[in-house]
Parts: sequence; C-alpha cells; structure tokens
Amino acid sequence: MNLARLVFCLSFCSATAMVHAATPAVSPPLIPLPAQISYADGAFDVDAKTPIVVVDRDASTRKTADYLAGIVARTRGLHLRVEEHPASPKAIVLQRDPQATMANREGYVLDVTPQGIRISARDDAGLFYGAMTLAQLLTPDDKHGPVHVVAMHINDQPRFVWRGLMLDSARHMQSIAEIETLLDQMAQHKLNTFHWHLTDDQGWRIEIKRYPELTHTGAWRKPVDAGRDGQPLRYGGFYTQEQIRQLVAYAAARYITVVPEIDMPGHAQAAVASYPFLGVTGKRPPVSEDWGVHPYLYNVDDATFTFMDNVLDEVMALFPSHYIHVGGDEAVKDQWKASPAVQAKMHALGLKDEDALQGWFISRLGRYLSAHGRRLIGWDEILGGAVPDDAAVMSWRGIQGAIDAARQGHDVVLSPSPDLYFDQLQSDRADEIAGRIPVRSLASVYAFEPVPKALNVSQATHVLGAQANVWTEHMPTIAHVEHAMFPRLDALSEVDWSPAAARDWHGFVARLPAQFARYREQQIGYADSAFAPDITVDRTIALTTGAAQLTLTNQAGDDTLHYTLDGSVPTVASPLYSTPLAVKLPLTVRAAAFSSSGMLLASPRQRLLDRTSLLSVSGNAMPNCPGSDFRLRVQPMPDAVSLAPVYSINVFDSCQFYPSTPMDGITRIHVDAVRLPRNYQLAHDAKLVVSRPHSTPFGELVVHQDRCDGDVLVTLPLPDPSRSARRFPLDAALPVSHGSHALCLIYTAPIEGDLYALDRVTLLTGNATGDTR
Ligand code: ACM
Repeated sequence: MNLARLVFCLSFCSATAMVHAATPAVSPPLIPLPAQISYADGAFDVDAKTPIVVVDRDASTRKTADYLAGIVARTRGLHLRVEEHPASPKAIVLQRDPQATMANREGYVLDVTPQGIRISARDDAGLFYGAMTLAQLLTPDDKHGPVHVVAMHINDQPRFVWRGLMLDSARHMQSIAEIETLLDQMAQHKLNTFHWHLTDDQGWRIEIKRYPELTHTGAWRKPVDAGRDGQPLRYGGFYTQEQIRQLVAYAAARYITVVPEIDMPGHAQAAVASYPFLGVTGKRPPVSEDWGVHPYLYNVDDATFTFMDNVLDEVMALFPSHYIHVGGDEAVKDQWKASPAVQAKMHALGLKDEDALQGWFISRLGRYLSAHGRRLIGWDEILGGAVPDDAAVMSWRGIQGAIDAARQGHDVVLSPSPDLYFDQLQSDRADEIAGRIPVRSLASVYAFEPVPKALNVSQATHVLGAQANVWTEHMPTIAHVEHAMFPRLDALSEVDWSPAAARDWHGFVARLPAQFARYREQQIGYADSAFAPDITVDRTIALTTGAAQLTLTNQAGDDTLHYTLDGSVPTVASPLYSTPLAVKLPLTVRAAAFSSSGMLLASPRQRLLDRTSLLSVSGNAMPNCPGSDFRLRVQPMPDAVSLAPVYSINVFDSCQFYPSTPMDGITRIHVDAVRLPRNYQLAHDAKLVVSRPHSTPFGELVVHQDRCDGDVLVTLPLPDPSRSARRFPLDAALPVSHGSHALCLIYTAPIEGDLYALDRVTLLTGNATGDTR
C-alpha cells in the first residue's frame, strides 16, 4: 500500500467503523479529556516495529514526531522510529492538512483503526496536541512494552486560549533545567502559557544589560541568620539573557508562550536596593529576606520611566509574547502619600488620589507596550485606575476582578486566590508540606469554573482562560514545587481544555492512576495527598475504653484503601476498607491506596494507636484559637531545602487548641516548642498582631483549661533565644483534673521578636520525667 492509500484508508476506515461505535469498559486515561471521543470495533497494537510516519517532511511535524517518540520511550520503554517512508503500512501517521476545517488552530483529529493511527490537524499546534493525546494512549498503565489501543475517533480542541501556569522564580529560584521539566509537563497537559514571575522584593532574576546592578545587587539577599546554624551567607541568582532565550525557545518548541512579569509599582524592593533613584525615599533598602507586603514603590519621575522603558525594551527583545505582565498588585501607597515630589506630580497631573496615580503609571506602560505591538496584562488592582482599553486583567483577589474587567470590556484570566493558588496546601494531613491554609484540594481545583456566573454571554467571551499560580515563599526547591503542582495541574488542564459539560470527578479519578505511572517514569515528584489514607479513631472513646471504631478515609472518596492491622505492609491483596472496624488498642494500622487494577495511588501510611500516641498531638493538627484564622505551614528556616518538618504558625496570634481529652490520671505536659524567624511584612495589617502581656523576659507558653480565657493551668517561661536551640522542650506538672477538657496554649513572647510554634504537645501520666508518656 502506498502512503497516500494508507493515509486515505486510515481516515476512511475509521469513518465507516464509527457506525458501530461502542464505548469500551475502561475509557482511555486521557488528561485533559478530549472534546469528543467515539469508539469503534477493533483495535491497533503498537509495538517497537510500529513507525511514526511524517507525511509532509515538514520540520515542525518531524519535531513533533521526535518529541512524541521521546516521551513514549521514556514512559513506556517503547522506542518508535520516526520515518518518512514507512516500511510497513501499519503505522502512526502525523499529517498537517491545510484543507482541514478545524475551527481552532489548536484542534486535531486522531483516528485509531485496525490499520493504524492517524493524527491530522490544520496547524502545527493542533498536530502537537494530537501527538500529546497519542503519548497518553500509548501509556495507559504502569507497564512497559507493546500497547493495545482500541479503535476510536477523537475530534478535539481546547475550551480556552489561555491555559496558564505561573511560577514565582523571585522568592525562590529554580534552575533552567528544572523549569524545562515543568514545561514538558505543561506540554503533555496541553497548557500553553507560562507566566514567569521574575522580579519581586526578594530578588530580581532577569539579566538587564543596561542595568547590571539589578542582578549584581538585586538578585541576592542575605538569608535570615546568614552564616549561623548552617544558613548560607547569601541566597539568590539570576537568569542570563542567553539562558532566557534558551528557555523561551524550549517553550516555543512545545507550543508554550512565556509571558514575563516585571512587577510594578510595588514589589519593587530588590530594584530599589539596586538603584535607589528608582525609589521614593532615596534610601537604599536591603533586598528583602521577608515575605508579605512591602512598602517600597517605584517613584513616578521621568528618570524612572526611562528606566522602565529601557527594561521593557530588553524584555520585549527576549520574550516574543504578545502579552507583557507588569504586575500592579499589592502596592501599598504609604510612600507615595508621604513624598512631596510624588504628591506634587499627582496634583500636577490632576489626579484625585494615589490609586488614580497607579492607573496613570500603568497606562503609561500600556501605551509604551502598545507602541511596540505588545499588550499589557496586570493583576486586578490595575482596574483601580485608568486602565488602558486593550489591557487584559488577571483576577487574583477572588473572581470579582474578572467580573468587573469583563463588564468593562477587558479580556480576563482567572487565577483567583485561594482557589487556583497552588501554594495553598492540598490536604491538612500531618505529612503535607509547607504552604498556605486553607486547603485547596485536587477536587476543589477540578471543580473550578473559569466563567463567572455573573457574566452574560457576550461578557463571557472576554474570559481567556484559567491559570494556576505557584508562589514560592514556602517552596525553596523543585521538589516542593512539584509536590504543589502535580497532580493539581491535571485538574487545571481539564478545567482549561475540556468542555465544561465533560467534567466528571469520578471519571477523572479513574484516569489518574495511569498519570501517576507517567509521573513516576518521568521522575516527577507528584503528591499522593488526594488518595493518602487518614487513619482516625474517636480519641475520647479510645482513651477511656481501650477500644475504638477505626475509620479510613481519603479525599478521593473512592474504594481504594487497603489495610493491615498486624504491622505488615499493605498490598492490593490486603483487605479493602469499606466500613469502620472495631479494634482493640494497642495496634499499628497501615493503609495504602490502589486502583481497581492494582496500580499504586498512595504509598502506605501508618499509625500506632496506643494511649501514649493518642495523648501526643502534632501542632499541625491543632486548630487556631477562635478569632484569627490566618495560618501558614512553614519550614524551620525560610530557605530550608527539606520537605519536612513543617510547623503551623499564625503570624497574628500564636494561640492553638489541644483537643478535648479525658484528664483523669494526667499529671504532666510536655511541649516540643519551636522558635521561627518572624520574617513577615504585613503592611497595614501589622496592627492586627496580638501583643500579650508577659512576666518573664522572653515570654511564656501559657496553658489554659477549656477556653483561652479559662483557668491558667500552667505557665512555662521561654528560654533566652540567644542561648537555646530553635527547637526546645518545655515540661511542667499539671494540676489534678477530672473529666474531659481541651487546652488553649498561648505564646506571650514579645511581638518584636521571633515567632513560636508548637511542634508537638504531649500529655503524660505518672510522675517520672518523660518515660511514662
Ligand atoms: C498576588 O498574589 N499578589 C498576585
């Protein structure tokens, strides 16, 4: 059969076969789900002899074929040859078809028939996405070798044009090779926009040739406790223009646009540290070692705009992206309010306030970008002033910014906090890594709808798509980033690509085991938090009776948990959990999650259930006191590279509850306490930090019974920070008590000093010094 005949047959055969379409028992594990799939009788077997045929000898098609072959080799161990002249008619054919009537340049058609597989698309991007779908069809499970692909017809195209992921490389930096790994995953998930946050108070990361101090000074910060306790003397780095060009090309080869962000007029401290003339006060601040909202703004004089224009010239030369992101978020205006020069300029311009001045600032940049054929995008604060007509808005303070912007006729990208902030924890499990609270689970990301209900049909056309943001204050390494990103990126990809009506949580969960296997083969450190077993009992019943109802749950909620009660490692052959189990203490429970076909979903977790361990509660499991729900899980030091330990803090008030516990026989309390740097700038919220009276120099941990204004059971003075380790024990006898009581634990350390957290709180019986716990 000649090639033309082969190609004809592939499409013709598939078209006729579809008449007998029948849905297979197990649908192929594709993420994101294609717009349309129909099934036919028969199948095609792909093995090492199946060639990938590039019909047009076109360079882009060839690159796509090579990329497909590379992924399949890595994840399936199947080495497919790319050919222009197939030796065998049974082939995978990639063909661009300029006549194809796809509505969308990213659309494609994929046919599997007993004769072979054919992907066709009008445009290169569509062909690439068809190839990414095929890469998943060829990796349907955790096995290596030949693949049996059922006959099907896929007609696919994305729901949104902006399918985004933002990475913050300013707070913590990733290597180019690490970012390339993320771009590969974006491509495999059909995401097409990489928003790169390159400048912030804590570091300027992009080389600007005309302003070398930006990276000589602005790229480096002095870590908290630099040079002490093993802390490095400096943290930082930057991307050279050559590296950036390499990354932009790497992304473009994967049909990903890199949108750079140069944040202004706030988040400017590293720039002002490099060139104080850019600031308002004329003083040189340090590059910040703190997180939070900082006071440093750019000033508004002509020299600063010359700087901006020159920086944007170099940025535009590096990034071909149509959009350039100029930030605009969290610019507290105190410095502008206090500056006579800024006030004079504001009045001379006839502007009513500092928000209007920010609007003028941003529109000036917008005009500069428009004059160079580019378009401005900014965080939703840019709506506070005279935003340029053609500016696009990124809604992060919830979705109201998107609603307002779309009603005003601006294009919008939905990246609301906390729903699409991947620095939110994805579970509240004790073994979760650092991040912000509240939790945003895999299921909640999956449920996110990018088009706000408040928009009418014509306003909704302004929604470009959705984007997840990965802020890295609490993610010093790529291992942290990968844990936060995957598999929530799978959920995002389906939100952005698949038709809204196709959203189906249980179907998605059923497609994840294959995706996890792909991650393992590509050494991606994904999180298994959605499937990880929570092993719980009613503490009060267990402590009073020595017996309990044991419950196993996970977020996914499907029947996936297998367990053992004898300390052995659970396998898929271990009992499947279905209803609570009556158990007698002590025992060790181990549980793991497996798919119905036996693929691993969550590695084994274990819990020892005995009196001692039930009386010992991690600070991460102890809720905040009422009145202040702010909460972060942080590392021992801001740049610590390990995933654990992590500690829960409330920068406004260090007060937590130990759960209600039968107190008969309890004689002592042991606290593993932790001192943490207070490296948080809170801007106008600083006044909300609760200061408590203390009677010893470094403050105390005060333990109240039942309520935070209840009886004081014990007061434990804190040691001198300059003479004690960051993690230290506190021990005290407790007064005799009966019945069940909760404890409220409050740190009274001075708020000008360090923060304190509870690593673990343990109640003890007996009268020895720790051995009867
Ligand atoms: C932001 O999270 N400040 C955009």
